[in-house]
Amino acid sequence: MTPLDHADPTLPNDLSAFWMPFTDNRAFKAAPRLLARAKDMHYFTPDGRALLDGTSGLWCVNAGHTREPIVEAIRREAGELDYAPSFNLAHPKAFEFAQRLTAILPAGFDQVFFGNSGSEAVDSALKIALAYQRAIGQAGRTRLIGREKGYHGVGFGGISVGGLPNNRRAFTLLPGADHIRHTLDPAQAFTRGQPENGVDLADDLERLVGLHGAETIAAVIVEPVAGSAGVIVPPKGYLERLRAICDRHGILLIFDEVITAFGRLGAATAAERFGVTPDLITLAKGLTNAAVPMGAVGVRGAIYDAVVGASPAGIELFHGYTYSAHPLAVAAGRATLELYAAEGLFARAAGLEARWAEAVHSLADAPHVKDVRNLGLMAGIELEPRGEAVGKRGAEVFQLCFDSGALVRVTGDTVALSPPLIISPEQIDELVGRIREALQRVD
Ligand SMILES: Cc1ncc(COP(=O)(O)O)c(C=O)c1O
Repeated sequence: MTPLDHADPTLPNDLSAFWMPFTDNRAFKAAPRLLARAKDMHYFTPDGRALLDGTSGLWCVNAGHTREPIVEAIRREAGELDYAPSFNLAHPKAFEFAQRLTAILPAGFDQVFFGNSGSEAVDSALKIALAYQRAIGQAGRTRLIGREKGYHGVGFGGISVGGLPNNRRAFTLLPGADHIRHTLDPAQAFTRGQPENGVDLADDLERLVGLHGAETIAAVIVEPVAGSAGVIVPPKGYLERLRAICDRHGILLIFDEVITAFGRLGAATAAERFGVTPDLITLAKGLTNAAVPMGAVGVRGAIYDAVVGASPAGIELFHGYTYSAHPLAVAAGRATLELYAAEGLFARAAGLEARWAEAVHSLADAPHVKDVRNLGLMAGIELEPRGEAVGKRGAEVFQLCFDSGALVRVTGDTVALSPPLIISPEQIDELVGRIREALQRVD
């Protein structure tokens, strides 16, 4: 029992039953932080205090909160078609939405596979990669390669290719998964945008090819910009070289764009922003503006054709979810894409990037700051840890910001920012100002 001392009937009196994800449950339940509603750039606590959202919830509410066209679309669909299976049945709007989605993906991406989260998108993409290799007569290619510090959700596939030790330690992993080196380089701290040096880090894939043999490797998955590890921007030329090495060895390249798509980098996808086209793209979060859970895998037509074409009549891919292409998610997704287009939000993010970079890099002289990294409307402000207490200073900055009216995200001792794309220049200054105040107050 964790009783709360209040008389408000809209608030819980007991927090014990909800086992909260990725949370220090004991600390949270002793001092809860509750969010009761949200509008545009703000969350509101149950007592009505406004919090400027510097993180789009969890990198996902790209168009801002409770936007009317999305709310209305969900409301309408809930009264029309609550649910329809997608196994050998379907609802018409699922096809239309898939079509609209492929239209904003790079040329040649002709199909999408739907799930309900980023984790499901990742595990679906890994399975599709294995199915493709098998379909083209490369069944020996079963190895999946990720990157150190990578985050690909919490499925067994995702944690196997993921490179964050805490997420892996306690669990059994897929056999054969391996990792290339990460690209975080302290020697290039305070770089604006992409670091100059480090293209050769992509050659680490050649090391794994040499070690394991290309004929055992199905796919490589990377976040184009690593988010959860604290915003790690790829060095110039790095993604291009990774693409070239994959091509040389018949390895599929998967971009995990769960965070980087839908305007976060000022374009529909990171693939578009960097001009590097992978074979598969995982999507979630901003896909529906997070209003209804949804994940998706964008697939090159050639991959779909190979898997479907190589299969005897009948089901071609033994994979799918009860809620694949759920009507409410499809409705939310369609309204979200329309809103992005109507308000030109991807271009808006691109237009704000220089202002954003200026503002976050102004924190370089604030206490405890050891690096500032940015791209698009993303930024990582890495702090010196307090001695052995890794993460403690970051957690205190988070709390001070929360108390002063700004929601930021911390991962370890890095403050990770990814505001809704509707943020105003004044709100950028407010957000950065609150972080500066917190840095001045923390030990
Ligand atoms: C790059 C990336 N992949 C996958 C995921 C997992 O998404 P979900 O939490 O929706 O399963 C995340 C979540 O932050 C992510 O950042």
